[in-house]
Amino acid sequence: MTVMYLDSFEVREKTLLTPFKIAQRTTFLEWESQPTLFKQYPHFCYRISLHDIEALSWLSQLRCITSLRTVAQKPYYQLNVPSAGNLKPLEIYVQVRNVAGVLCGIYHLDVITEQLVLIQEIEDDGVESYLGLTNRFNGFIVMMSIVPFRSSWKYGLRAWRYCYLDLGHQIGALNATVRHFGLELTKMSHYDDNGLNLNMGMGDDEFIASVYGIGQVGNRPVKELKNPLMKVAPTNYTMKDDQLSSSIRNTPLYLEMYDVRQCSNYISINRNRRSAREFFASNMKDRAMAILMQTSVPKSLEVIAIILQAHSMHLGVYCKGQFSIAGNYRNEVIQLLLGQRFIAGANMVLLIYAQQFTAHAHIEAGIYAQDIYLTCEHLGVGCSGIGAFYDNEGSQWSNNPLLYAVAVGGKS
Ligand SMILES: Cc1cc2nc3c(=O)[nH]c(=O)nc-3n(C[C@H](O)[C@H](O)[C@H](O)COP(=O)(O)O)c2cc1C
Repeated sequence: MTVMYLDSFEVREKTLLTPFKIAQRTTFLEWESQPTLFKQYPHFCYRISLHDIEALSWLSQLRCITSLRTVAQKPYYQLNVPSAGNLKPLEIYVQVRNVAGVLCGIYHLDVITEQLVLIQEIEDDGVESYLGLTNRFNGFIVMMSIVPFRSSWKYGLRAWRYCYLDLGHQIGALNATVRHFGLELTKMSHYDDNGLNLNMGMGDDEFIASVYGIGQVGNRPVKELKNPLMKVAPTNYTMKDDQLSSSIRNTPLYLEMYDVRQCSNYISINRNRRSAREFFASNMKDRAMAILMQTSVPKSLEVIAIILQAHSMHLGVYCKGQFSIAGNYRNEVIQLLLGQRFIAGANMVLLIYAQQFTAHAHIEAGIYAQDIYLTCEHLGVGCSGIGAFYDNEGSQWSNNPLLYAVAVGGKS
């Protein structure tokens, strides 16, 4: 059977949220059937703690558990990066070469144990050959993958959007972490995305979606991997959604470089960030809103700020930081965002539109939103990404498609 590959226009059409679709929802989620959220390599694989070797310590801030509770008798993990529905549809792999004290190899980042788990040693071979490099890359090559079923289990095909937004948040965290540790990202090239996925042991349920280097290209030539890596399922079970997987498989790797704002107290910001569940509008200063409106916006995006409550700023619509239409849009914004009541307390909502509805624009919306999260934490205000909205109602403020929103407001 041939699978129809949906282009991003078709994905948008098929994943629109409308009041009719929401009213039709009759099923309730059986949380017992939630697929596992963290990939586990076999116990016999060699492991290194991220805290044992100085050169690895930055990886302990890249994707890490920052809150652990018990909910319905199961551990409930939250990470340094937000995630739609907290479903965490991502994994990270790192190729390490010529880093003192670390065996050269391809590792999985085990977020629960804060370890690198060795999947395969490398010598004169490596993933460089699938990324347009002819020579060995000394340092780290970070590969981020998407595991769509973790999100589609709850959201169906709309998971396509959330997987890419989540990935953007993770790339934003990579940028900020690398910068904090005085390291630099190196851009990789497209060469053989399929070869990379096949040789990294990805199957039909996981896809490498973005890659960056941290280090330098050396003088010695590199060969293709001698053997493909072992295949380990990213979830305890999976259900096929051919349209979702083929659309993700056919999306080229995201390799773009993007600069993020630097915060002096990054480690505490990275570990303390949480999505706001309620807002206290009188506790947010107008100045904080002005600072947030100055956050740099990737070229693919258009951000419209709607000020809902303020001390002395005009309420209404701001484009590129400039006041453009006066008005109290609180009810319209709450309605747009599926009537999520806690947004009533927000001071401001940032609506993130893109010229084109593409996977890469979603990633950039996530990168931008991660910057907003970090800046909010730095400014002592709360925020939450909002991926649930009625798509068509977003068009009252822009002709472009709405990809994502961030609600911002005072903390208690
Ligand atoms: C892409 C994306 C979409 C989200 N959509 C919503 C949303 O519609 N409503 C909401 O209350 N929270 C939303 N969130 C916030 C998540 O619920 C939150 O990140 C998750 O529960 C983990 O909590 P934490 O961010 O405090 O770690 C979203 C987050 C992301 C990254």
